[in-house]
Amino acid sequence: MADLIIACLSQKGGVGKSTLARLIARTYAVSGWTTKICDFNTTQLTSTHWAKIRKDAGIEPKIDAEAYNQPTALTREDYNLIVADGRPDSDQSSLDIALRSNLVVIPTGLSLDDLQPQLAFAKELVAKGVPAERILFVLSKITDSKIAIAEARGYLAEFRVADQHLTLKHSYQKSQNHGYALSEVQGLNTARLEEVADLVAAEIVSMVTELQEAA
Ligand SMILES: Nc1ncnc2c1ncn2[C@@H]1O[C@H](COP(=O)(O)OP(=O)(O)OP(=O)(O)O)[C@@H](O)[C@H]1O
Ligand SMILES: [Mg+2]
Repeated sequence: MADLIIACLSQKGGVGKSTLARLIARTYAVSGWTTKICDFNTTQLTSTHWAKIRKDAGIEPKIDAEAYNQPTALTREDYNLIVADGRPDSDQSSLDIALRSNLVVIPTGLSLDDLQPQLAFAKELVAKGVPAERILFVLSKITDSKIAIAEARGYLAEFRVADQHLTLKHSYQKSQNHGYALSEVQGLNTARLEEVADLVAAEIVSMVTELQEAA
């Protein structure tokens, strides 16, 4: 049975679920946790393909990934950490995954087009039994506009939003293309990008710890 299940879910597509799933998996794996990404986006298999590229390139630590259809089977996995990488929708499967997860991470951009469905999705999870304190929003793939960031935080005020955000960067995208996580970003002058990715991951780890201590 998995010690910990973290889900990256959303209603919107392309907002950064698989990116956060890979970052979270790498963060725990580097600390020695056996880690597997259960890839529920079976039409794209983003994380599954990424894990294969990573393995073929010999990048350590090793992260397993597999296409996955059955939320009910999540708890049976014999790994320290399972990261569920969700489908872009709010169907029953996302709810079933969320109900089995210790933490649900929801990425969102800054536009109302992103914020509105993502907030509605989080509220729906809560209405159906997912505790609000188990939900974390992460602003992802965004510009660095202080005003827009503050507005987005205001819009999401009833939920916890990670203090750090992930800006849209070519080096992040390129690194993932080569099997790296955002905290392993490749390229010149990327130390700050790596640091921010590590800080986002650290917030997720500390939220999990807080929830476990409170349980
Ligand atoms: N901070 C970033 N900077 C640059 N590119 C990014 C960033 N975050 C994600 N991307 C890229 O944006 C695209 C979508 O991201 P990702 O696959 O993580 O989203 P998703 O929510 O899993 O999408 P889907 O709903 O299709 O499963 C990918 O090509 C990814 O590499
Ligand atoms: Mg995805």
